[in-house]
Amino acid sequence: MMKNEELISTLNAKFEGSTPEEVIKWFIGSYKGKIALSSSLGAEDQVLTDMVARIDKDVKIFTLDTGRLFYETYDLIEKTSLRYKIKMAIYFPNPSRVEEMVNKKGINLFYESVENRKECCHIRKIEPLRRAFADLDVWICGLRRDQSVTRHSNQLVEWDEANGLIKLNPLIEWAEQQVWDYIKTNGVPYNVLHDKGFPSIGCQPCTRAVMPGEDVRAGRWWWENPESKECGLHNRAK
Ligand code: ADX
Ligand code: SF4
Repeated sequence: MMKNEELISTLNAKFEGSTPEEVIKWFIGSYKGKIALSSSLGAEDQVLTDMVARIDKDVKIFTLDTGRLFYETYDLIEKTSLRYKIKMAIYFPNPSRVEEMVNKKGINLFYESVENRKECCHIRKIEPLRRAFADLDVWICGLRRDQSVTRHSNQLVEWDEANGLIKLNPLIEWAEQQVWDYIKTNGVPYNVLHDKGFPSIGCQPCTRAVMPGEDVRAGRWWWENPESKECGLHNRAK
């Protein structure tokens, strides 16, 4: 068997210049039943849902319901399922771990420190994500290189060391405008908050609207430094 690093560089070279659809199609064909799209219902993930559903409606699409999402995001889960006739898999955090955390540290503990914020993200996202990964070889994500300083070195195909599987970022090279052109051209349903100044949407208490000209992720964990603003789902590429 090829070593992971070799496999990853072979795949990146193979898909140099390919469209996201070509890449997704090849991966779905090669990893049948072992590949899933991880969707936060953000604009990029809606594009990927559209692409995946056109290729194969049986591919698993899952979302991590942290329990603190915006109402508009829940609404979009419903709309997306109806539109594509798919059933999104919902993963919820372990209730006793959430109870223990909020009773000990407060319901809005994340504003107190980066440490608290990471603990909350760990319990509400990372642990459920690990369960969503059972039996998977590849997870598809909506990362784009120009989203933030923490994502400049991300690649199309990566080896996710922490979780022991391939991470595929089909939109890695896309600019924000390409995402919106695709959404408009294909009538893809999207979160109504995007029209109200929210380019990047996570949990409600940890997301605010941004001003015109502000960075697209400026509204995520806005009280923290840009360098710490990853929840642990996407650790910085080495
Ligand atoms: S985050 O790490 O800051 O939350 P971001 O919102 O930019 O990430 O999303 C990047 C990618 O992470 C998404 O395209 C999606 O693949 C995955 N992701 C983020 N949040 C979730 C979620 N709640 N459920 C499933 N996947 C998610
Ligand atoms: Fe908790 Fe905020 Fe992380 Fe959501 S984004 S899991 S509310 S710290």
